[in-house]
Amino acid sequence: MENQFILHTPVSDKEQLIASWQAPSNIALVKYWGKHGVQLPANPSISFTLNGCKTITKVTATKANDHSFEVLLDQVSKPSFAPKIASYFKRIARYSPWINSYQFTIETSNTFPHSSGIASSASSMAALSSCLMDMEGQLTGKPVDVHKTSFLARLGSGSACRSIDGKLVVWGEHKDTQGSSDLYGVDVSEKLHPIFQDFQDTILLVDKGEKTVSSTVGHELMNGHAFAKARFHQAHNNLTAIKECLYTGDLEGFIKITESEALTLHSMMMTSHPYFILMKPNTLSIIEELWKYRKETGVPVCFTLDAGANVHMLYPAAHKEAVEHLIKSKLAVYCQNEQYICDVIGSGATTV
Ligand code: PMV
Repeated sequence: MENQFILHTPVSDKEQLIASWQAPSNIALVKYWGKHGVQLPANPSISFTLNGCKTITKVTATKANDHSFEVLLDQVSKPSFAPKIASYFKRIARYSPWINSYQFTIETSNTFPHSSGIASSASSMAALSSCLMDMEGQLTGKPVDVHKTSFLARLGSGSACRSIDGKLVVWGEHKDTQGSSDLYGVDVSEKLHPIFQDFQDTILLVDKGEKTVSSTVGHELMNGHAFAKARFHQAHNNLTAIKECLYTGDLEGFIKITESEALTLHSMMMTSHPYFILMKPNTLSIIEELWKYRKETGVPVCFTLDAGANVHMLYPAAHKEAVEHLIKSKLAVYCQNEQYICDVIGSGATTV
């Protein structure tokens, strides 16, 4: 299956290639947690693509006898990024062999603060893959295959494959999702109900520090996890059910599945060996306040969590003002330096 992405088309001889792309982060509703092989998911997941939280990347490639690269973040050289990028290039060389005869300069920046606790791996790998596929298009003269872009992004960071194309993206084979694949993300937003088209995501920055346990280690701990089989099975069912909610505009059903998925993700962490907790006391305080507010006002705002302490508040655009008021009056105090980021659903990577 992977072989479909090996480039067979002859490439032209170009001394220099330049490409600039921006790609957003994404927030999973049904979570990917557990993997096997080279970044293959243990269960299918679905996410909203974000808009404002993104990485902007410019890549310059110069013909050379061998492959090398340099990475700059905000114009400052970042040798600490080298191991991750080196292993990414190594993985993708089989599929895009032309990269072996170029030297790359990768200039990148994020719109969100570097140490905000928002993972930049999804947006940065999506932006880099988009640049490389743009270059591949320049070399072959053929249009870019977005599935290959997503496939390459996945080899850099699993969830990055959901940041390429579409507002709502499924990654992982799922019987009720036509065209779904473990190899890349597919856009399933065609039937997205209008209420979700401009859904809001406000990220409350509870803890901006380094995570105590990385996602890589977390995924690993699902191997041999006592509840793994049941969890993977549940993810398939939740995906079927949440797609129905997203297509019919069933907010109540959406809230139930989204919040349950967030808590299940963290339950998996708390019941693995070794066990760990990434939520902070303020994460729970925010959840309690949010539940109280929803009960009292009926405003359909809910939360989800990534592998960290920050809280993503999801709600329809019509309730923007009310939620902003709630955040300012009750929730900002639980955030580091009262910081939060307001974002909205977006549609993927674009050329700059
Ligand atoms: O793509 P990774 O390896 O950083 O894993 C992401 C895992 C979660 O954010 C917790 C869930 C998800 O589906 O995005």
